[in-house]
Order: sequence, then C-alpha cells, then structure tokens
Amino acid sequence: MTQTADLKVHQFESHSARETIEVGHRIAELLVPPRFLILRGDLGAGKTTLVKGIAEALDAAEPDEVTSPTFTLIHEYEGTRTSGGHKEPVMLYHLDLYRIQNERQLDSLGLNDLASPDSIVLVEWGEKFPSVVKRSQGEIEMRTTRGDSRSITLTLRD
Ligand SMILES: Nc1ncnc2c1ncn2[C@@H]1O[C@H](COP(=O)(O)OP(=O)(O)OP(=O)(O)O)[C@@H](O)[C@H]1O
Ligand SMILES: [Mg+2]
Repeated sequence: MTQTADLKVHQFESHSARETIEVGHRIAELLVPPRFLILRGDLGAGKTTLVKGIAEALDAAEPDEVTSPTFTLIHEYEGTRTSGGHKEPVMLYHLDLYRIQNERQLDSLGLNDLASPDSIVLVEWGEKFPSVVKRSQGEIEMRTTRGDSRSITLTLRD
C-alpha cells in the first residue's frame, strides 16, 4: 500500500478471471461504506468479473448472479460486511454509464438516492461525467498487461 496525506493506493495483479474474483474478495475488505468509486478499464478488462468477487465477499450474490448492467444501467445487491465483530448490512450498487449520453439522462438514474450510509457504489464509465468524477471517492482501475494478466489499482481518497 502507498499512502500520502489523503490517498491510499493498493496494487494487485491477476492472471486469470478466477484470480480477479479473489482480488475482488480482498478489495471488498478494504471498502468501508459509504464509498463511491469509479471502476475503470477497457472493454473486457474484467470490471464485471471483479464485481463478482466483491459481491461474493459481501455475501451479496453468487458470481453467476452478477452480470453486466450495460442495458439495465444499475444492479443492486444486498449483503453484509463484518466490522468490529459485528455484521452490518451493506448495499452494493454496480452501474454502467456506457449508454448514458448526457447529464439529464444521468439525473434520471437518481445517483443521489444511492448515497446511503451503508452503500458501496461502483460506476463503470463514470469518468465520462465530470459530476460523477467530482462525487467519486477514488477508483478501481483495471489494465490488461498481456493475455489474461491484469494490473488492478484501488485508489481511495478521504
Ligand atoms: N485476469 C482476468 N481478469 C478478468 N477477466 C479475465 C481475465 N482473464 C481473462 N478474462 C476474461 O475476460 C472477460 C472479462 O469480461 P468482463 O465482463 O468482466 O469485463 P468488463 O471490463 O466488465 O467488460 P465491459 O467493458 O464489456 O463491461 C471475461 O470473459 C473473463 O473470463
Ligand atoms: Mg462490465
């Protein structure tokens, strides 16, 4: 982990979809609600695969149940996380703004309503919109290094 005043950076490597799911488990432990993150990476980088791992770790969904929100725009999963020996409810929201074309369409998604204290919000293609970038408290970036290898960087901002 690299840490500066208000930035924490965690770096992971994966060599398969299975390993990316395991990285998702580790990232889930680092995400304390409320947390709103942009999930960046090229088409097919493995963003949805990573969310499968995060959802599984939060007991929110089986990997098979997590699919891309490309057409539905937003998927919602109810899970729990353990904090100080207690189980707490957590809402995991996975959004894909690929098909959203302007701020008006974005408004109709109701991003504001997702900002509950127990929410973890992961937004694919959020970097398209300055308002989403402004709201975000960091990002997860997935980069294809070669073949099935991925470099995964979690940046958390206070
Ligand atoms: N290391 C890896 N991590 C994740 N997925 C991998 C890896 N190696 C190969 N894959 C394959 O790449 C594909 C990634 O698809 P996925 O839907 O997760 O990507 P995505 O980034 O969400 O794509 P999109 O931009 O279309 O939403 C899957 O078919 C997966 O099996
Ligand atoms: Mg996807």
